[in-house]
Amino acid sequence: MKYFSSNKELLSHIKNKSIKKIGLVPTMGSLHLGHISLIEKAIIENELVIISIFINPTQFENNLDLKKYPKNLEKDLKMLNKFSKSIIIYVPEVSDIYSEGVVANKYFFGSIEDIMEGKQRKGHFQGVATIVEKLLMLFKPNNAYFGEKDFQQLQIIRNLVVQKKIKTKIIGCKIIREENGLALSSRNKLLDEHHIKLAPILYQTLKETQKLKNKLSPNEIIKYVEKKISFFPSLTLEYFIIADEKSLSPINNFNINKKIRTFIAVKFGKIRLIDNLRF
Ligand code: PAJ
Repeated sequence: MKYFSSNKELLSHIKNKSIKKIGLVPTMGSLHLGHISLIEKAIIENELVIISIFINPTQFENNLDLKKYPKNLEKDLKMLNKFSKSIIIYVPEVSDIYSEGVVANKYFFGSIEDIMEGKQRKGHFQGVATIVEKLLMLFKPNNAYFGEKDFQQLQIIRNLVVQKKIKTKIIGCKIIREENGLALSSRNKLLDEHHIKLAPILYQTLKETQKLKNKLSPNEIIKYVEKKISFFPSLTLEYFIIADEKSLSPINNFNINKKIRTFIAVKFGKIRLIDNLRF
């Protein structure tokens, strides 16, 4: 398994190899089966797959969140060992990415940035777009893989490559869940015992609202979800939104010919989890 912490060394390693198709899977490490599913898809569809493991400072709202983010490089490398022949791992220091200061670039994404994660975490998507653009410009992959788990992030990145005329194909991958429906996330590891038991409520609620769409209006469904989550004293509903999948604009009625998706963010004590589901 090839492992690089310098992008220059990685690039010079692949330079003369005439690789036909490169896939990129950007991650922040603490890998789980959700990440692995992206890597497996990338391995099938490309000759070489670059996996980046980098906790990107510019996408965190504050230093505490950044420090709290789980890290386990040794375990990550063990998980990746079985793919050794077809992958290259890129684990840069901050200076290898941000040689000119740790700041995000400025982008305009309009309304797809202003709601949900973008509203709750100011500047988050500016940081995400910055690191993704840097990685795409460095490695010029044919394909790059992102999970629908972070659906708004996926739409931001789709918008980014159009704006910047980047040729990489952005591939959305389905959400991998526990048997109880909880979407796999590095943040699940931070939950205490009480909240681990409660966490499947996210998916259960999304499933439940799917069944309500024949009986209730979007507004009534939102009220139902607000009431349901409020029964649990240590849970805080940050948002529940029924939106058009493309524009991410909330909808007022179901009589529209658009793909609809529901989005939810809940704080379990201090830990914030998100999920979404095609309606
Ligand atoms: P991270 O949270 O490590 O996620 C890396 C990729 O794995 C993202 O595309 C995410 O959507 C996907 N993913 C996470 N959990 C998943 C699940 N349960 N099922 C399917 N895919 C899942 O997202 C980031 O890192 C960062 O913002 C990044 C894009 C790397 C930029 O720093």
